[in-house]
Amino acid sequence: MSLLYKRKVLLGVSGSIAAYKSAFIVRELIKRGAEVQVVMTHAAKDFITPLTLSTLSKRPVYSEFIEDDQKAYGVWNNHVDMGLWADLMLIAPASSNTLSKIATGACDNLLTAVYLSAKCPVYVAPAMDLDMYANGATQDNLSTLSARGVHIIDSEEGELASGLEGKGRLAEPEHIVEAIEAELVKSLPLSGKQVLINAGPTHEHIDPVRFIGNNSSGRMGVTIAQAARKLGANVSLVLGPTDTALDLHGLNVIRTTSAEDMWLAMKDSFAQADLTICTAAVADFSTESQSTQKIKKGSESELIIKMVPTRDILASLGALKENGQRLVGFALETQNGAEYAKGKLAKKNADAIVLNELSKEGVGFHTKTNEVTVFLSDGTSKNYPLQSKEDLGGQLVQDFIHWFNL
Ligand code: CTP
Repeated sequence: MSLLYKRKVLLGVSGSIAAYKSAFIVRELIKRGAEVQVVMTHAAKDFITPLTLSTLSKRPVYSEFIEDDQKAYGVWNNHVDMGLWADLMLIAPASSNTLSKIATGACDNLLTAVYLSAKCPVYVAPAMDLDMYANGATQDNLSTLSARGVHIIDSEEGELASGLEGKGRLAEPEHIVEAIEAELVKSLPLSGKQVLINAGPTHEHIDPVRFIGNNSSGRMGVTIAQAARKLGANVSLVLGPTDTALDLHGLNVIRTTSAEDMWLAMKDSFAQADLTICTAAVADFSTESQSTQKIKKGSESELIIKMVPTRDILASLGALKENGQRLVGFALETQNGAEYAKGKLAKKNADAIVLNELSKEGVGFHTKTNEVTVFLSDGTSKNYPLQSKEDLGGQLVQDFIHWFNL
């Protein structure tokens, strides 16, 4: 799974014969699940049409501050918004002219203005003829950009459009994308870390067609899993039987049904996990026995099902936890939330408990929003106001990294 998945990439295309290769770059990025916004210079349009790039990127391509068809409406392309939207910017091909402009801060077109506005990491892949590439001016520009933190994806050697052979041709699209991925791996805080998460409900079967379950969608756990993956972690998700459509892309998903299945799956992966987060709504009781055949209506006036306690997964992992491993639990409460959450923190040997209070508006199993308070084992707590589960997942993971020195 590519780290580029769901990342917002601004692709700047400048005027070089290699601009035709930008179509392949867009395709490589899209294949990896990135969102691509193309900005091209006027000169680039002589080498490849905006229509080709907009069709491949599935977004309009921008090249002017005010496009011809926007003039009548007083609408313009906001370079600042684009610069802030992006998770990363790639200028490929970067002609010697564009390199020179961005090295000196000149911004007489949309691409260079977007570059100056971008706060995200920038990658530049130069493309030009060998003598232009070797020229001291170009080399100085590349050194200047590199010294400012711009990642240079160096030109490759080979046959050039001029018919000459040498260094200057645009790196192959696949190499460009791989170079970005390699850099992302290095820069992400959870790179090389194992994160284990459980999510969703459990089903405790009565017979082959009936079960006792709960309404958990698994959404909160999956958004946390995606946030951890986006920050570079290798994420295993032990997922109970949920019908909710969830984004499981890039996660190692282990599907389970009952509380016992979930325990066995969690136990198997726990020893390797740096951070384990138990978000699942695990049944506290399971049926003592399950009928192998569907239970038929008889003449009885009542049906009594005997339930026995399930294993507490979080507490059992808390007992197995070793130095350096971090464990987070959730608590779902309808009253006395803080008191119960702190009790669970101690009883289950967790490092943090995330409290959901069902009595609050917008909080619950099937909502897309949540408000929580996190209680830490050092006695401190932090409240996260009502927001989308996606935003909350991202913030929680950022804070876990900080609190737990991950
Ligand atoms: N949990 C678990 N195994 C169980 C029950 C709960 O791992 N058999 C975990 C949940 O995933 C959650 C935490 O324990 O991270 C707290 O779950 P919660 O349902 O709030 O509380 P319980 O421990 O079940 O206690 P009670 O139902 O009495 O509130």
